[in-house]
Amino acid sequence: MTARIIDGKAIAQEVRAEWKVRADALKARGITPGLAVIIVGEDPASKVYVANKVKACAELGLHSEHIVLSADTSEATLLEKIAGLNADPIIHGILVQLPVPKHIDSDKVLKAINPEKDVDGFHPMNVGALVIGNTLLPPCTPYGAMKLLEKCGVEIGGKHAVVVGRSNIVGKPMALMLLQKNATVTICTSKTVDLAKFTRDADILVVATGKAKMITGDMIKPGAAVIDVGINRMPDGKLCGDVDFDSAKEVAGWITPVPGGVGPMTITMLVANTVQAAERAAK
Ligand code: GUN
Repeated sequence: MTARIIDGKAIAQEVRAEWKVRADALKARGITPGLAVIIVGEDPASKVYVANKVKACAELGLHSEHIVLSADTSEATLLEKIAGLNADPIIHGILVQLPVPKHIDSDKVLKAINPEKDVDGFHPMNVGALVIGNTLLPPCTPYGAMKLLEKCGVEIGGKHAVVVGRSNIVGKPMALMLLQKNATVTICTSKTVDLAKFTRDADILVVATGKAKMITGDMIKPGAAVIDVGINRMPDGKLCGDVDFDSAKEVAGWITPVPGGVGPMTITMLVANTVQAAERAAK
């Protein structure tokens, strides 16, 4: 079998067009959805991600503020900045790019963001809402992965979904979202003993470990939908996922490429959450 390739770029365009209609409706009422993105330090990958987030907002006609703080910025200064944005009525979404430098407590920073403006969905209140199954601001990467499955018509209810990776940004929220759609969910980590035993039983396999090409074709159930959240740079400079695409595509039914799979969706769902937050603020 050769898998159908899930075209994240094309699906992202389609979903962005849907949200543009909602953003335009708000603009017609004199409200421009606004996003503030804060980056602390000089991490090259984070700089690229943040620039892409700001660019996507501009493309949809959203207001965006790109706040660049030096790596030695104190926690107090960052918290003050967040407090200012919390109180600013033209800002509906606030995102602090992670990781932040070690001298800053990221939990404290995430808790300082007004939950109504928490477009990353990382505030404990929004995490709690996700557990209960009623969050309005789901974390962008798993939200985007769920949209890909939905747009491809992959059935979730009753299926076995295996999530490899237990991060707060992807693995844990992804598992909760799949559970909410009535999947039977197993969460593994890169340290799971006999990982292949679990992955080979997955109808839906989501991989977010940060370990290049760790899932190979022989670890995949024939026909499975494989969502690769990894993005790793190889010694030759090329990007690859956590799934070995060449062997996996011979076995899977659906597969996301890297790049061009989940990545464009993460940014799209950030735009969606910003519009959603602006809609709520306008009520
Ligand atoms: N770093 C890696 N992924 C993310 C994300 O989705 N949001 C934020 N704020 N930082 C990240």
